[in-house]
Amino acid sequence: MPRCKDIDLVKGMDIRLDYSQMMSEFIGDKCGITEKDIASVVPQADKIIKTIARERKNNKLGFYNLPSDMESADKIRELADSLRQNCDDLVVLGIGGSALGGKALFNALCHPLHNLLPKNKRKAPRVFFLDNIDPVMCQAVFGIVNPEKTVTAVVSKSGTTVETISQFLIFRDILERRTGKSASAEKTIVITDDNANPLRTLARKSGYHFLPVPANVGGRYSVLSPVGLFPAAMLDIDIFELMAGARYMAEKCKADNFRQNPAYMAGIIHYIADTKKGLHIAVTMPYCDGLKETAFWFRQIWAESLGKEKDLNGKTVNAGQTPIAALGATDQHSQLQLYAEGPYDKMVTFWVVEKPGVKVMIPKIREKEFTYLGGNTLGGLVNIEAQATQLALTEAGRSSMSLTLPEINPFTIGQLLFLLELQTYFTGGLYNINPLDQPGVEAGKRYTKGLLGKPGLKNKADILNNWQNKIKSFTIKTNNS
Ligand code: PA5
Repeated sequence: MPRCKDIDLVKGMDIRLDYSQMMSEFIGDKCGITEKDIASVVPQADKIIKTIARERKNNKLGFYNLPSDMESADKIRELADSLRQNCDDLVVLGIGGSALGGKALFNALCHPLHNLLPKNKRKAPRVFFLDNIDPVMCQAVFGIVNPEKTVTAVVSKSGTTVETISQFLIFRDILERRTGKSASAEKTIVITDDNANPLRTLARKSGYHFLPVPANVGGRYSVLSPVGLFPAAMLDIDIFELMAGARYMAEKCKADNFRQNPAYMAGIIHYIADTKKGLHIAVTMPYCDGLKETAFWFRQIWAESLGKEKDLNGKTVNAGQTPIAALGATDQHSQLQLYAEGPYDKMVTFWVVEKPGVKVMIPKIREKEFTYLGGNTLGGLVNIEAQATQLALTEAGRSSMSLTLPEINPFTIGQLLFLLELQTYFTGGLYNINPLDQPGVEAGKRYTKGLLGKPGLKNKADILNNWQNKIKSFTIKTNNS
């Protein structure tokens, strides 16, 4: 597939950030942000902007380099093209940052009912992301695919994640028994850290295909590495356009003046909202089914990057906003009541798509009661609802902002993902925490391994058993006999 020229893609494809409805001029003084609030974080912001510029120059920000890694993209494309030749199904095994990016790309950039399309109407295999170890779902997927024509992507940055490795061991067993060891190896691809880890070793020993994730790119920042790009390439998504979009946004976000920089401005607004206005909950509400999984991807990067007990000086800060993913217009009929009248602890970010890419008309009708609907498009209606919801929130003194995408295509999705990655990283700087680690989830992982009897961790398992004994007296059974 030829590489696109960035310049051809840019026209009219800019994403727009509008934070006016976070400001006191619009929503009043209760939660509204003032210029004085913004001025108070400028010294911190300037310091981080300089740090990021330095880290970028010294190649320290792994995710920043990904959109320019053409060598890796060429390899991904080549491998995907060859594997697609004889492939009906793609199974992606991974969890957290190793799954959410691929799911977001699939949801945004493939036909909404991709897996249900007849084979001749799909240019790509069906895809199943197994990002949980629910046995019923796993068995269902393992049962539905044809092992002879299935490509398995095992995705794990660390190469040690219990959930992913367990699924792989089961699936490998099924594949090897049905197709033999070498045929199964030919259709297995491991995506993991290039540095030594158990999965990397297994891939080498077993002759699996291998795509490296750069060492300085963590799971939740890896969507534009092989983690997201390989499934995308298998699904015939133009990964070069995706990368061009991310590069375009990276270029825009080089602006040192945060008022011209959407990632930095959005970060500042979120930070002030959380730390000065009591808005500890960040709701992301796309008005488009195709962005639903991107909202879930963002939920993870925001939560895991910013939710930290200690700051960089070791001081207890308990930082972070709780992210919620909602969907418009559906959740107007589920969540909106709470957003409009519940506690003043939320800000809503609307994601709006100007042109949905299809035109579905509501017919003009005879019935008087509904004539106002006739002649509108569904795309027009959904955007009117987004606008109306935001207006209503503003009227109620509730905080909101919006990101508007002109349309959904690989170029705009590349922009959006990069913008949100940088916004997250920058906001981590404002909190003075490390947005790249996740110490809070490591303890749970160690307990899991301890409980499974992994050598060296037995003590931890004992502690947990102890704890389970203690909670018995606080447990109620419905049948006490
Ligand atoms: O963002 C992260 O670092 C995590 O969510 C990881 O992606 C997740 O825990 C899976 O880890 P791994 O990719 O090592 O299997």
